[in-house]
Amino acid sequence: MGSLPQDYVLPDASASHLVLTNPTEAEKKQTWTLNHQEWGGALSLSEYLEREPYIETLPLSADGGMSHWILTDPTVEGPRPVLASGESTRKRILYLHASSSPEAAQVKEGIAYGVGSIYTYPQFRGKRYASRLLRELGTQLRTWPQRQGTTSSGKPAGERAVCSALWSDIGKDFYARKGWAPFPSVHVEFPVPITAPANGELKKESEDAAVELTPVTYSNLAALCAEDEHILCTRLLPRAARATGKTCVAFAPDHDAMRWHLYRDDFIASLVFADAGQQRGRSETKGAVATVAGSKKRVWAVWSRSYHGKNPDPATDQGRKNTLYILRLAIDAGADGKDEDDIEADDDLAAAFRAVMREALREAHAWKLAKIDMWNPTPAARRLVERTGLEHRWVEREVDSIPSLMWYGDGEEREKIKEDEEIEWVANEKFCWC
Ligand SMILES: CC(C)(COP(=O)(O)OP(=O)(O)OC[C@H]1O[C@@H](n2cnc3c(N)ncnc32)[C@H](O)[C@@H]1OP(=O)(O)O)[C@@H](O)C(=O)NCCC(=O)NCCS
Repeated sequence: MGSLPQDYVLPDASASHLVLTNPTEAEKKQTWTLNHQEWGGALSLSEYLEREPYIETLPLSADGGMSHWILTDPTVEGPRPVLASGESTRKRILYLHASSSPEAAQVKEGIAYGVGSIYTYPQFRGKRYASRLLRELGTQLRTWPQRQGTTSSGKPAGERAVCSALWSDIGKDFYARKGWAPFPSVHVEFPVPITAPANGELKKESEDAAVELTPVTYSNLAALCAEDEHILCTRLLPRAARATGKTCVAFAPDHDAMRWHLYRDDFIASLVFADAGQQRGRSETKGAVATVAGSKKRVWAVWSRSYHGKNPDPATDQGRKNTLYILRLAIDAGADGKDEDDIEADDDLAAAFRAVMREALREAHAWKLAKIDMWNPTPAARRLVERTGLEHRWVEREVDSIPSLMWYGDGEEREKIKEDEEIEWVANEKFCWC
């Protein structure tokens, strides 16, 4: 990329000629090269420059699902400045209006966007360019499906989005001032004992004979996601709507959303373990399903790994941050267990959850991860956590990964961003993140 004209004076962020647009491939590469320091994690620059284009090919991102954005000055002759940058990824959202009867039949499906990688080149910081980009992006995403027209495979992109969400790493205020309201950011952290037995000795079966444990793999993932979504629509959303009287919203925990995380995980782990001979980072196990013998009750979790450095030794400073994230915890309480009280008091579900968490601990140990994090467990899941007897601590994040949501609404009120509408974010877990 060439440099800016020597006499170029940086524009005021409120200048009307600045535009939000999509970057060229060269501009994307330039941006990744700079923001590798922020988000490269365990990857070298060259690996990161491979990963970012790979992410564009993943489920959710592919077929026009992912868009890159820059704020730029189109009046500059020659290479234009990238004053601020970001990304959006289209996702399915399920929602139930407070005003409608809180029944599953009323659950609607819409388009949402995950916003990420908000970045200003170091020399342009503090000039409100990120703020301007965010204000434009927050508004533009509402109608982006319509303006996008068709996806790359020729399908209509849709009408409008009902919301957008981001996960702030810079606290709760900056994005709130731009219209993305902060939502609960609690997680439970389970430390992985460093002294756990070596991989070969790990006991795979459940300690509890009444619980049958099977792995989540790519072959059963789609079916589990469909069942999870069914439970969300028939039980969790209506229950939350009844309990809160608010519009209840959940990102669909669907096959694409999970595979986005899992393929990304496979890519990174294959580089972290490139020389370690450990199946080159490949793990067939993407989670665990615990089924209570003789009943239809089940608990399952889908998880992914996160590494902070090339040396995945959990005893090092970097290694201590390596985390197994529970992307999604699903609880199928069977026909009888319809509300939170039933779940938290259910001994079978407590045993099933314990079995899932033990398996997660084994997997985390095998993959040199120092801790397991589960975001925003429901009150019933919190109780199940307490009943595991496993060491854990509760963390309220004030700075990192703060889920933040801008609700646009739908129907007659589409034209107006309903900032005051009260929203309950159901299943506000790691799988929503991008
Ligand atoms: C965060 C970032 C995008 C801001 O870009 P910018 O163009 O300088 O932002 P603006 O000039 O529009 O706004 C500056 C505001 O951001 C705040 N800010 C910048 N970095 C911050 C940080 N690390 N923590 C909290 N606030 C921060 C400033 O305090 C200032 O606040 P104010 O609105 O109260 O004055 C930029 O610093 C950056 O790229 N940082 C590295 C990547 C990053 O952290 N991105 C955000 C990920 S969620």
